[in-house]
Amino acid sequence: MNNELVTVEITVADEEKLLRALFKQGVKMPVQCNEGFCGTCVCKSNPNQFNEVHDQLGLLDYEDNVLPCAVRAKKGINKIIVELPAHLVPEHLSRLSNDKNSDMRP
Ligand code: FES
Repeated sequence: MNNELVTVEITVADEEKLLRALFKQGVKMPVQCNEGFCGTCVCKSNPNQFNEVHDQLGLLDYEDNVLPCAVRAKKGINKIIVELPAHLVPEHLSRLSNDKNSDMRP
């Protein structure tokens, strides 16, 4: 399996759960607990764009790791940059720069 990471821009509705937005755009995120406990769905994104769902641990405190099943986009945020394994991302989503030194923060 290809472990390459790609950076994509995901459209989100106001306060939409990131996992739902990813699914709506065809990303095949692996999910087990769907409640922010198992870590299966972890991806990288700027944590400042999210609120946690039900005070769960959706925002991890290191390396911009986020649990999409346990975070919602903050009100007014419509685009989110996410780094995901390439094999999960459908072809129709355009890839942004894969520069490892790029900062996902706006
Ligand atoms: S599916 Fe378990 S943390 Fe997201």
